[in-house]
Amino acid sequence: MTIREILKMGEARLLRTAPAVTEFDTPELHALVADMLETMAAVNGAGLAAPQIGVNLQVVIFGSGEVNPRYPHEPPIPATILLNPVITPLDEEEQVGWEGCLSVPGMRAMVPRWQRIRYTGVDVHGRSIDRRAEGFHSRVVQHECDHLIGKLYPMRVRDFSQFGFTSVLFPGLDDNTDD
Ligand code: NI
Repeated sequence: MTIREILKMGEARLLRTAPAVTEFDTPELHALVADMLETMAAVNGAGLAAPQIGVNLQVVIFGSGEVNPRYPHEPPIPATILLNPVITPLDEEEQVGWEGCLSVPGMRAMVPRWQRIRYTGVDVHGRSIDRRAEGFHSRVVQHECDHLIGKLYPMRVRDFSQFGFTSVLFPGLDDNTDD
C-alpha cells in the first residue's frame, strides 16, 4: 500500500468524467482501493474518490464507522467502497451543511445537497450495494460521487459569504495540517 498524492483544485485531472469500472476483483483494483484507504486514513478524510489520486475510474470510498475528527459533530458513516455509483434523490428536500475537501485544503463552505437519497453501485467484487441515506451520510456520498463527474464542492456553493478558511471559521478544530 502507498499513501498517494492528492491532487488539488486547479488540476485538470479533477475535472474529468470518470468511466465505469468494468473488471472486478482484479489485483489492480484491490491495489487501487488499498492505496485509497491508506491515503484517506492518513489525512482523516471523510471520503476519497479515485480521480483525486489521478485515477480516472468510478471508485469512491467513504466512512470509517467512527466519528471523523475533521467532522466531530457529525454521526459515523459505515465504511464503504463503492464503484459505479448512481444517486437518486428520494424527494425534493435539500439540506445545507459544511463541507471540506482534501483537494481544496484548509477551506470549508456551506453546500446545498439532497437531504435523502438512494444510492446504488457495486463493491470491489462486483456485488450490489443499494442503500438509502440522509443527512451527513447523504452529503458525503453526493460529495464523493461529484468527483466522478468533475465537480468540486465550490462549484455547488450558492452563498459565498459562507465559504472560507477552516482556521478562521472553526478556530478550535484540529484540521489536519496536510489538508
Ligand atoms: Ni472531495
